[in-house]
Amino acid sequence: MAYQYILVEHMDQTCVITINRPEQLNALNKQTIQELHDAFEEAGKNEHVRVIVLTGSGDKAFVAGADIKEFANFTVEEGKELSRAGHDMLFNFIEKMEKPVIAAVNGYAFGGGLELAMSCHIRLVSENAVVGLPEVSLGVIPGYGGTQRLARLIGRGKATELVVSAGRLAANEAVQWGLMNHMYSLENLKSEAINLAGKISKQSPAAIASALRAIHAGFVHEQTGLETEIEEFGICFGTEDFKEGTTAFIEKRKPVFIGK
Ligand code: CAA
Repeated sequence: MAYQYILVEHMDQTCVITINRPEQLNALNKQTIQELHDAFEEAGKNEHVRVIVLTGSGDKAFVAGADIKEFANFTVEEGKELSRAGHDMLFNFIEKMEKPVIAAVNGYAFGGGLELAMSCHIRLVSENAVVGLPEVSLGVIPGYGGTQRLARLIGRGKATELVVSAGRLAANEAVQWGLMNHMYSLENLKSEAINLAGKISKQSPAAIASALRAIHAGFVHEQTGLETEIEEFGICFGTEDFKEGTTAFIEKRKPVFIGK
């Protein structure tokens, strides 16, 4: 299949998917989300593929978030739909894959970028990476599963601190906090991800699929949380703070929030 914003390579039994919009720091616009969905679906069906590695192109960003310029003028309904479509097409889709998905986080992973990494089953990070959920600095909330998956990975207290302060973690802190599994130099990140994929490929695909289904089954209660996230994400699009936050980003200035 021909893609505009992603690259797909096959290395032995590993499929490597690279998000390729480096001039926009690989921000997730709607088309990129659709292309990622299609590539994951295809890799899921391809009997030769045992493991999928997801990374970003360039040496600066994994993914700098959802595309702020694309959604800055959305209505409440469009905001809610953006969140719901993302959950269904990509974030929940990856989490429910029956082949392991390794995120190779090669730089900034903010907002939807960190949420994308958190949807993957295993996360490796490069030393230069900085990660966080800065959505409240734009007058919005994490809308691609971040309110649920971050707390699950690092605990409610630390997750709340990171979300409400729009905090950032350096790669080594992200490993200490349990958000990332291992840290490597940027140079070695992709080969380490492919090595790990090679080790996984030697195991039983049937048993791996069972293990992934069983691990996922322990978290289905989060469904209400994800639904609430979609509702609240949509509500943000009707606030003056959201207009101010996104306009300030586009105009490259600091926002002034009024709480309405
Ligand atoms: N959406 C759209 N464009 C983005 C983007 C995003 N999330 N992040 C970066 N870009 C664009 C910039 O606008 C810029 O484009 P132009 O050259 O056309 O102006 C280009 O990428 C390079 O970015 P910067 O010049 O800002 O690069 P920098 O090195 O100075 O800063 C950064 C890097 C700190 C990551 C900064 O780009 C930034 O803060 N980005 C936004 C991060 C963010 O807030 N992410 C959350 C998005 S909201 C979300 O994800 C909602 C959700 O949960 C569904």
